[in-house]
Amino acid sequence: MDLHDLLVSRIRDVPDWPKAGVVFKDISPLLADHDAFTALVDAFAGQCGEARVDKVAGIEARGFILAAPVAYRAGAGFVPVRKQGKLPRATFAESYDLEYGSATLEVHQDAFAPGDRVLVIDDVLATGGTVAATVELVRRSGADVVGVSVLMELGFLGAAAKLAGRYPDLPIRSFLTI
Ligand code: PRP
Ligand code: MG
Repeated sequence: MDLHDLLVSRIRDVPDWPKAGVVFKDISPLLADHDAFTALVDAFAGQCGEARVDKVAGIEARGFILAAPVAYRAGAGFVPVRKQGKLPRATFAESYDLEYGSATLEVHQDAFAPGDRVLVIDDVLATGGTVAATVELVRRSGADVVGVSVLMELGFLGAAAKLAGRYPDLPIRSFLTI
C-alpha cells in the first residue's frame, strides 16, 4: 500500500462531531498504528530534503503529536505554539477568526533564535487561520518559516490558495486533500 492509501485507511470519519452536520476526521487509528505513524513522521521529515531545519513548530493540540517526532527525526528542536494563557514567560500573541468568535495562539518570545529555519506542522488545514497566526508568530521572532506541512487539507475551503497569495514563497504541503 502506498503512503496515501495507508493514511486514508487509518483515518476514520465520525459523523456529527463535534456538532451536527460536521464529519470529524479522527486520526486516532493512524497514531495507534506504528507502521502508519512512522511512515507519516518520516514523510514529514523527508519533505525538507537536504535543507536545514532548526526548529519544528507544532500547533496545540493535535499538531504537537505530529511535530514532536518529526523534530526528533529531522534533528531539530521542537517548539510548542500554544493556546492563550498556557506559557509561563513573555510571549508573542496572534489572534485569528473562528466560525464564531476568535482564538489566540502564543509562543515564547525566546522560543526561536533570529534566523532559525522553522517548519510548521499541524494535522488539519481548514480555513487557514491557525496556520497564518503561527506563521506570523514565527516571523515576529525574527525566524524564517521554511515550510508548512499538514496531514490533511480540507480542499473545499480553499485555504492553501489563500495562504499562497499571502505568503507567495512559502511551500504549503499536505499529504491528503479532502
Ligand atoms: C483544529 C485543527 C487545526 C485547526 C485548523 O484545531 O487541529 O489546528 O483546527 O483550523 P483552521 O485552518 O480553520 O484554523 P482546533 O483548534 O480545533 O483544536 P485542537 O488541535 O486542540 O484539537
Ligand atoms: Mg489543532
